[in-house]
Amino acid sequence: MATAKREHWGSTWGFIMAAAGSAIGLGNVWRFPYITGMNGGGAFVLVYLGCILLIGLPVMLAEFAMGRASQSDPIGAFKHFSPGSELISKCFSGVGLVLAALIAAFSHNFGLASIVALVSAAVWKWGFAVAGFFCSLVAMLILSYYAVIGGWILIYSWESFSGGLSFTGTAEAENLFVNIATNGWISTIGMLAYMLICGFVCFFGVKKGVELASKIMMPVLFVLILVLVVRSLTLPGANAGVQFFLAPDFNNLSVKGVLEALGHAFYSLSLGMGILITYGSYLPRDRNIFTSSLFVVLCDTLLAILAGLAIFPAVFAMGMSPEQGPSLLFKVLPCTFNSMPGSLGWLWNGMFFILMSLAALTSGISLLECGVSTLTQHTKLQRRPAVIILTVSISLVALLSAFGAASWKYLMPLKNVMERVLGSVKGSFLDELDYICSNWILPLDGLIIALFVGWVWGASKGAKELYTVRQGKDNYNDAKFLRKVFAQNISVTVWTYFVRFIAPLLVLLTFLFSAGIIKF
Ligand code: PFF
Repeated sequence: MATAKREHWGSTWGFIMAAAGSAIGLGNVWRFPYITGMNGGGAFVLVYLGCILLIGLPVMLAEFAMGRASQSDPIGAFKHFSPGSELISKCFSGVGLVLAALIAAFSHNFGLASIVALVSAAVWKWGFAVAGFFCSLVAMLILSYYAVIGGWILIYSWESFSGGLSFTGTAEAENLFVNIATNGWISTIGMLAYMLICGFVCFFGVKKGVELASKIMMPVLFVLILVLVVRSLTLPGANAGVQFFLAPDFNNLSVKGVLEALGHAFYSLSLGMGILITYGSYLPRDRNIFTSSLFVVLCDTLLAILAGLAIFPAVFAMGMSPEQGPSLLFKVLPCTFNSMPGSLGWLWNGMFFILMSLAALTSGISLLECGVSTLTQHTKLQRRPAVIILTVSISLVALLSAFGAASWKYLMPLKNVMERVLGSVKGSFLDELDYICSNWILPLDGLIIALFVGWVWGASKGAKELYTVRQGKDNYNDAKFLRKVFAQNISVTVWTYFVRFIAPLLVLLTFLFSAGIIKF
């Protein structure tokens, strides 16, 4: 049985580092600081913290609880708790079929209608296990484009030490980025290097691979960001950047900003993809999930704030303009670091891109591990062949993003298919894939997980999984222990309420907003 053979984390610290590694990624460094600056600074940070606590933490706990209780990958976890819910899944399937008919009748979008009908039919046949399959599939799909961006970051790390990033003008920065991003072959080399590292780590298993790598990479990442924060904050004129990033301005905070905070909380914690179900399934029974999750959330938020403090004071002090996404990372920051006094631009750039490489790699490792766990559990494959098969096949799919990062030149047939399903296609293949996964699929999966845990598995059963009495250590006659039990009871009640009502409602709202169905 897979359950008996399942490998476990060696320590709680290792588990926290691995889960934090998954959460801390590109979103913390290139998205959070910018949307904070644009949406009222400190006011946005306060709202973001609220979102993390209102939906991030409850859904994270739900995923960990599902994984630990079932000791399974996402498909196995959904299957494990499904008995008795056949009627509910058949109702879902019926609603899906009606929805497919409505889409076909009113929008004439037969591509989308067929997809919805197909998924509904699958739910009719396999029940909620389809949701688990969907989680693992999406994780692989996300990895296929995350690997291309991760590859660019590895190339930039190399360039910073070999003198390739020594420019101070944004025109040269633009040139270099265009040369890399529009050249499918260069992107492929970076992507393959990234996939090989992820595959190498997963090859060695949970304890000797993922856990060991995270325990080394994450502390290095924190040390690097702290050095950069100190350098950035001690520059003359740094204050303007701190003001832009953190000064609370409630006038600049709109409803749109609040929903953006909700969406980002979700993306940043790597929720809705079954990764945390997988990581939870490697947890032994005697670990307290609640405290570990709090640590993960804390690390993720702390790193996002430190990233802002490393970036904006330097950008403002050097007279550059803050931008979002790839421009900030690949164009503005190299010029900023090179303009800093002391001619050490190569060192600051090198440190920054190594830090980014570590952040991107630990997230990629978690995505690959989700697939490995699924493949080894539902086929006869052992871990090592499974890692090799997945690394090779995801790299092949990633070629689409490597060659379709800048234009559709090589992918016209795919564009036609996507236009049929999506109506219109605005960005490149990579942009579109990122948009669909982050704005549609992740919140949708998260909604399914929260509803499933809250209503199908049952929040009270889930809650039991969050705390564990440590055999021989906890004692019901001990006053300190009883106080702990009391505090746990309260937090369990709060969690139950959140996972059943508040989280699904807020996730639904975020989903409708980020998918463009409601607008503010
Ligand atoms: N949490 C990552 C970030 O903040 O960049 C993004 C991410 C990584 C999302 C891995 C999903 C994932 F599976």
